[in-house]
Amino acid sequence: MSSLENVIAAETRLSEVDGLNGRLVICGHSLDALAGQKSFEAVLALLLPDVLSTSEEAVRAELAQARLRAFREVARLDTDLVSLSVTEALRALMARLPDGEDKSVALLQIAAPAVFVPALIRERAGQKPIPPHTGRSHAADMLAMLTGNQPVEEQIRALDIYLVTVSDHGLNASTFTARVVASTRAGYASAVLAALGALKGPLHGGAPGPVLDMLDAVATPDNATAWLAGEISRGERLMGFGHRIYRVRDPRADALKTALNRLGAAGGMDIDRLALAEAVERAALAALRAAKPDRVLETNVEFFTALLLEALGFPRDAFTGVFAAGRVGGWIAHAHEQIETGRLIRPQSVYVGPKAA
Ligand code: CMC
Repeated sequence: MSSLENVIAAETRLSEVDGLNGRLVICGHSLDALAGQKSFEAVLALLLPDVLSTSEEAVRAELAQARLRAFREVARLDTDLVSLSVTEALRALMARLPDGEDKSVALLQIAAPAVFVPALIRERAGQKPIPPHTGRSHAADMLAMLTGNQPVEEQIRALDIYLVTVSDHGLNASTFTARVVASTRAGYASAVLAALGALKGPLHGGAPGPVLDMLDAVATPDNATAWLAGEISRGERLMGFGHRIYRVRDPRADALKTALNRLGAAGGMDIDRLALAEAVERAALAALRAAKPDRVLETNVEFFTALLLEALGFPRDAFTGVFAAGRVGGWIAHAHEQIETGRLIRPQSVYVGPKAA
């Protein structure tokens, strides 16, 4: 009960996570029909038809303008912020944005992580932030703001697939958080800020950085089985495996693996790194099956997220921020949906403390 497992806490038209069949449906479209088929902007138009525009082109234009607005905040970056991890600095920068429940607040919130994350990465590396360009797609501009170069088509496609793949996922911890805050009528910015805090934890969106730490520690494919056995015998959780809802493989892992293979075929991915990851995945699944025979623990989205974002040039302390750049669409859509219900979320607790004298 303490984890609200199996409790239905909202009705939503936004996404369905079918944990038994390993299927994710977003606004009536299966993930297969979205990832690599529709752009992030097109998916935002599906998630937020009452808040944003309903066409991909219109959303692309209004999101590009919102990126320009977000970049003005970058000028206010100070050294204290730059000394934080990218994800924590992102949280601090997001806290400065105006709050409210109107379209301009929603757009700025959706645009901001894609602008702030590259700017923070560059500032930390002693490089000047690159301003956004309204002629680019959201994914292309995020990559261009990271490197200062025009990204190649396969990189743009890979980041776009990533943003679409993580855009919404039922009532996960951060989305539930966003709905709770939105139900108090605090505004979209407050809902997103609280959700970002929930996302940061390693049991949710903070897992992909530690996935790379695991690959680094394993170092060679031959070492995978012994290293993972040691972790499991110490009672450690293997990052990038297991899920509260999926009892089969997370379909998002496959969408990202396909994108990674394409990136690899186009020369945008270190093939040895991919081979190491595949060896670790095989060994981890075997070790988890042996250790927890009664519990299906399969690969989740975070395992291939780590490899994809690394291949695109994001440092590991920025991974949660890149996750937020995609999931923010879902957060705002859920916040809007919750506001529309007109109901405050306020569950009850059972008192188990000492009786009053
Ligand atoms: N490695 C080793 N053991 C595990 C793992 C794992 N990754 N995941 C679960 N277990 C064990 C757990 O210790 C427990 O064992 P026991 O019954 O002996 O105590 C058993 O499996 C059942 O675990 P659970 O805690 O009931 O599972 P949950 O549904 O509460 O946890 C989870 C889901 C994602 C928090 C968990 O699988 C985990 O910690 N995974 C590693 C972190 C990770 O990859 N997080 C990203 C999740 S996907 C992104 C998202 O959608 O948020």
